[in-house]
Amino acid sequence: MSLTIGVDVGGTKVAAGVVDERGRILEKLLRPTPSSDAEETAKVIAGMVDRLKTDHGDVVAVGLGAAGFVDESRSVVLFAPNLAWRDEPIKDKVEQRVGLPVVVENDANAMAWGEARFGAGRGEPYLVCITLGTGIGGGIIVDGRLYRGRYGVGAEFGHMRVVPDGRRCGCGNRGCWEQYASGNALAHEARDLARVAPLRAARMIELSGGSPELVTGLAVSQAAREGDPAALECFQSVAEWAGQGMADLAATLDPGAFIIGGGLSAVADLLLEPIRKAFADALTGHGYRRLADVRVAELGPDAGIVGAADLARQ
Ligand code: BGC
Ligand code: NA
Ligand code: ZN
Repeated sequence: MSLTIGVDVGGTKVAAGVVDERGRILEKLLRPTPSSDAEETAKVIAGMVDRLKTDHGDVVAVGLGAAGFVDESRSVVLFAPNLAWRDEPIKDKVEQRVGLPVVVENDANAMAWGEARFGAGRGEPYLVCITLGTGIGGGIIVDGRLYRGRYGVGAEFGHMRVVPDGRRCGCGNRGCWEQYASGNALAHEARDLARVAPLRAARMIELSGGSPELVTGLAVSQAAREGDPAALECFQSVAEWAGQGMADLAATLDPGAFIIGGGLSAVADLLLEPIRKAFADALTGHGYRRLADVRVAELGPDAGIVGAADLARQ
């Protein structure tokens, strides 16, 4: 049975795993993403691949899911709003270092493919996948196939501009969806609240070492789990923005299911119901059409690894 390696390069961490033909991960490694240095990131990726390939003799290829715009030949990261990559020939760089064929794919596309093949999307030919993490990633499956657009950079849902003149985005525009409905947006919302209403946000501030500026997504999640109303309010805001954006996507794409992945899917129990409600409330024609299912990624944080590995095999 041939093995491939899937690597998921996100805004905060690099995850790599050896995957078999049935989408099972045999071994997995995690490293922080080197900040602001593309060369260093290529080195980290190559190092992880080397380690895994030494442990597993029969690895035949590498799939790389990268958090950015990947060109149609699937070799160059053209642009990455939340990473230091601009026109980065990452395929060549990693291939030269590891001596295996490398395929590059957008991280959310890879996640969508993983879920379509082995996860929550099995048997559903029309899928829209959304990753809520540092930013928002998108993946579209049409008729069982990954939709990339003409130039490889379709399904960049995170940069739909949902608020005119809204919050600044790493892509250079303002008001992008990922500034309102991602993991980072959750922390942003909590810090805003902590700044103007420190008493109400006391629990989140306490969990973050005492400073409103340091409130993290993790602190918001923990406080929300304890039932803290301020933290739950932050979750509500993110869920509403997420559900409304999904209604806009459904107006165009009419999928059978939405699959929610990325870091925030770890707290899906806090998000899923409010997302479903906001989605249904905002959906055009609601009451006269079938509602897409809203599901959590079954492969969880591994979906990107599994998808990238499988794409390397295709
Ligand atoms: C990037 C996408 C990426 C997503 C999730 C967005 O900011 O534009 O390419 O898929 O973040 O990592
Ligand atoms: Na995408
Ligand atoms: Zn943007």
